[in-house]
Amino acid sequence: MSLNPYSLYCSVYRNIARPLLFLTPSEKIHERALETGEKISNNKKAAGFIRNLCNYDNSALEQEILGVKYRNPVGLAAGFDYDGNLASFMSSLGFGFNTVGTVTALPYEGNTGPRLGRLVKSKSLLVNKGFKSEGAEKIFSRLAKKDLSNITLGISIGSSNLPEIDTTEKAINDYSSTFNMFNDVEYVDYFELNVSCPNTKIKEPFTNCPNLSALLSSLSTLKIKVPMYLKLPNEISAADLFPLIDLALGKGVSGVILSNLVKDRSNPMLDEKEIAKVSSLKGNFSGKPAAVNANNLIGEVYKRYGKDLVIVGCGGVFNAKDAYEKIKLGASLVQLVTGLVYEGPTVAANINMGLVELLRKDGYENISEAIGVGNA
Ligand SMILES: Cc1cc2nc3c(=O)[nH]c(=O)nc-3n(C[C@H](O)[C@H](O)[C@H](O)COP(=O)(O)O)c2cc1C
Repeated sequence: MSLNPYSLYCSVYRNIARPLLFLTPSEKIHERALETGEKISNNKKAAGFIRNLCNYDNSALEQEILGVKYRNPVGLAAGFDYDGNLASFMSSLGFGFNTVGTVTALPYEGNTGPRLGRLVKSKSLLVNKGFKSEGAEKIFSRLAKKDLSNITLGISIGSSNLPEIDTTEKAINDYSSTFNMFNDVEYVDYFELNVSCPNTKIKEPFTNCPNLSALLSSLSTLKIKVPMYLKLPNEISAADLFPLIDLALGKGVSGVILSNLVKDRSNPMLDEKEIAKVSSLKGNFSGKPAAVNANNLIGEVYKRYGKDLVIVGCGGVFNAKDAYEKIKLGASLVQLVTGLVYEGPTVAANINMGLVELLRKDGYENISEAIGVGNA
């Protein structure tokens, strides 16, 4: 077994850096991380140093999925880099792909705070952002200035969380205008159609078949060429999910992201004392509490659709074991946000190096051979 230096870096982060960082409110730290990451990515020497320290490559992790190359299966999920500041930086931290957004057509400063909280024992974050976004135009011009040529990049799109977007028809037009802006743009490798943000005013109107059908029909007029992934809720039964997927598959969607945040405050992975402390706060939960449902859905969806549908597993990925579990259940790729906050900047490299060990142990030469093997 080869020594994994990234595991040591994660442990130093968990035991020394994290307790210090967690003394400052979460949104502040997040903003500083965005500023620092963007500064580093604008400085070639600094970016090179970080890349040397945090990046890990191995051909056993490379895949091509729906015509898009992934140097490894560990991606940054929507919600960390919502305005695209880190679009070119995350690959230096070893992420195989990264999602910008959720981007909305119109700017929105986010729900009334606090918008972010930490539940350390539960390995979770309380999220009440509600699609905080600088708006599609500003994000588009920021991304246009970045060198994104060697980055596998996706844009997550949602509808603007503003009082004037109060009908599904207006929401469809709103979604369409953002898709239209980023459609056929060279650096966009995939889209995420986010229909599952639990923190918005009009809730989840597109998790029913007639509305989703209308939305996808409108998007089909744009003739989008890159893969589109449907980002789905965490707390939905397979029986309710299958009709949505059946419909989406026939209307331009080629994969699903399982899944978004947890709403249920009685989720057994949420520590009772921590949940009591945030009882007066609005928001939904990421991290460990999201893992069980996400994994169940990945398993059910893979059983039904097999290789006809690409599954991106998301929810509670902190280490290689978590990622491998999702892959063996049927996910081709995994994404994370909370793992980065709790395990630090070398989380992707640590997971990737660990995955190579796990693949070798099981006798696989490439990650693609492990997809779905544990799904009896
Ligand atoms: C701070 C934060 C903001 C998020 N914002 C979004 C978002 O804008 N769009 C989206 O599709 N998901 C969003 N999510 C959900 C994540 O993309 C992911 O589905 C969920 O957190 C489970 O993954 P994790 O356990 O690795 O964090 C957000 C999550 C967090 C923690």
